[in-house]
Amino acid sequence: MLKDDVLKLISRENDYISGETISHKLGVSRAAVNSAVKALREEGFEIVSSTNKGYLLTNSPDTLSKGSIAALLPDTRDKDLYVYGSVTSTNTVLKDLSSNGAPSGTVVIADHQTGGKGRRGRSFVSPSGAGIYLSYLFKPESGFDKISDLTSWTAVAVADAIKNSYGLDSQIKWVNDLLINRKKICGILTEVSVEGESGFIDTCIIGIGINVNEAASDFPPEVSGVATSISIENGGEKFSRCKLASEVILSMDKLKENWPDSSYYLERYRELNITAGSKVTAFPLMIENGQGRTGTAVGINDDFSLKVRFDDGSVQDLKNGEVSVRGLYGYT
Ligand code: BTN
Repeated sequence: MLKDDVLKLISRENDYISGETISHKLGVSRAAVNSAVKALREEGFEIVSSTNKGYLLTNSPDTLSKGSIAALLPDTRDKDLYVYGSVTSTNTVLKDLSSNGAPSGTVVIADHQTGGKGRRGRSFVSPSGAGIYLSYLFKPESGFDKISDLTSWTAVAVADAIKNSYGLDSQIKWVNDLLINRKKICGILTEVSVEGESGFIDTCIIGIGINVNEAASDFPPEVSGVATSISIENGGEKFSRCKLASEVILSMDKLKENWPDSSYYLERYRELNITAGSKVTAFPLMIENGQGRTGTAVGINDDFSLKVRFDDGSVQDLKNGEVSVRGLYGYT
């Protein structure tokens, strides 16, 4: 949309940019530029105009818009970037785009999800104006056995993006929850389709939900003991979602380029992981009687699996499933 392109140009300038320059760069009329500026002002962007100098952006609302995010990315990175107000689930929207031929690296972002999906059939609380709901399409040309590596790599990529955006540290709970102050600020849900014949991964939809500016009242009682937001953990300070969204895209692009060389991701995963050394209850994908098994997490293996010494003395490497970690999420 033209207003996104106009916003991208004026966001990148520290000084006035003339209407003529904008219309020349975008190949549109001055009148079209004027209407785009009018539409942006109606959305809350404060744009000063001066007859001789042109336009100057003086203040932006914290709206997740394609223009504001694109302004923070390399020039052509907004090509496969889709930003929406409200969707059911960004994973579902991206799945449709993927089946219509969207390339690896395509990104869908929404301000709000009406049917945000969590792991194991749970829902993911996705209020408007507060979080980032982002799905990244990756076609890794790998065997299915590598898939849990990918979700761990993603946890590292998002932790790096948070550090680069706000200078804040986060930790990882195996397999891929991100925590601040031992409460969850980000969940990752990777949905995969595999080619039956070769067993190779056809597409991965990597869904990332980050709680950025939520207040405690945004979380319903059933998740309030587990979830928090970056803002809550920093005294109510508000953070730019566009900045973090752009850094997540850059971090995920880097992940795509590095795949499958895991050296950086493994080292960083071990550094950020707080599961190893803790008492855990493991819930593998196939559990009997709904009961988990208790033990102690010993460490992270080279394939990102979790080595657990169970209370009966047996040792197992968990490649998937979930663990409850004593001392986290109300588990005592
Ligand atoms: C979890 O912690 O259970 C995983 C949560 C994943 C949430 C994200 S938000 C973006 C993407 N779209 C979805 O519907 N889910 C993922």
